Amino acid sequence: MEILQTVAELRAWSRERRGQGGAIGLVPTMGALHAGHASLIRAASHACAHVVVSIFVNPTQFGPNEDFERYPRSFGEDCRLAEAEGAEAVFAPAVEELYPAGAATYVEVSGLSVRLDGASRPGHFRGVATVVTKLLAAAEADRAYFGQKDAAQVAVLRRMVADLRLGTELVVCPIVREADGLALSSRNRYLNEAERAQALVLSRAVRRVEALLKAGERRAEVLLAAARATFATEPEVRVDYVELVDWGTLEPVETAAPGTLFAVAAWVGATRLIDNAVMG
Ligand code: PAJ
Repeated sequence: MEILQTVAELRAWSRERRGQGGAIGLVPTMGALHAGHASLIRAASHACAHVVVSIFVNPTQFGPNEDFERYPRSFGEDCRLAEAEGAEAVFAPAVEELYPAGAATYVEVSGLSVRLDGASRPGHFRGVATVVTKLLAAAEADRAYFGQKDAAQVAVLRRMVADLRLGTELVVCPIVREADGLALSSRNRYLNEAERAQALVLSRAVRRVEALLKAGERRAEVLLAAARATFATEPEVRVDYVELVDWGTLEPVETAAPGTLFAVAAWVGATRLIDNAVMG
């Protein structure tokens, strides 16, 4: 498998592969790959002739007191997993490669960027939108793969790709969970044993709301109250948000309908976790 480190190398790789025919798929990640990332790479490999996985811990999407420095890094293992799932190349640039000295250009998706995770992580989605723009421009991919796990990120990136007329198709893959329901996340490895047990309250809240939706409940106040009651059973866990929103605009809705996103974020000890469900 090829390891590409510069934008020029990635662009040359992509153009050469395009010359051979077949679609190019990009799977953007920050590394510390797990079965959730693997599902994206697998989906890309099934649909695209050539797949590149980017591994880049993007400094601009972390706040000053967040975990950029200690974010888990496992490059060797990540490359093995990417290759096993069908990737042909890994793009792993240095920070200065994507943010050259004097870099002054950012991509900001107004409105959407200050909702959900953007409300509690100021500047987070500006960092995500900026780096994903750079990755899409460098890879010249036909399709880029993202997880529904980060549902607000998907909403921001869909808007961005549409507004900038980027021409890359965004493909959204379902949330991969542990057997007990916990959504896989690179940050789960921060949890100690007690926190790992407490963290299940997020998926319990999601399942509770899914069950109510299945039973026909549509009122936001009832659905949100049920989710909050579930969180109350785990008082050590601090809720960041519990929201019922339109997945396109991230604006709150009064009544659930197809396309409505139920999303939660909560602090388990020092670790912030998220989970969600989309009404079918
Ligand atoms: P990262 O957290 O590494 O996630 C990379 C991709 O994997 C994202 O699209 C995310 O939604 C997806 N993913 C994570 N956990 C998942 C799970 N349990 N099931 C399915 N998909 C899952 O998201 C980022 O990196 C960054 O913000 C990035 C887009 C790479 C920009 O820096």
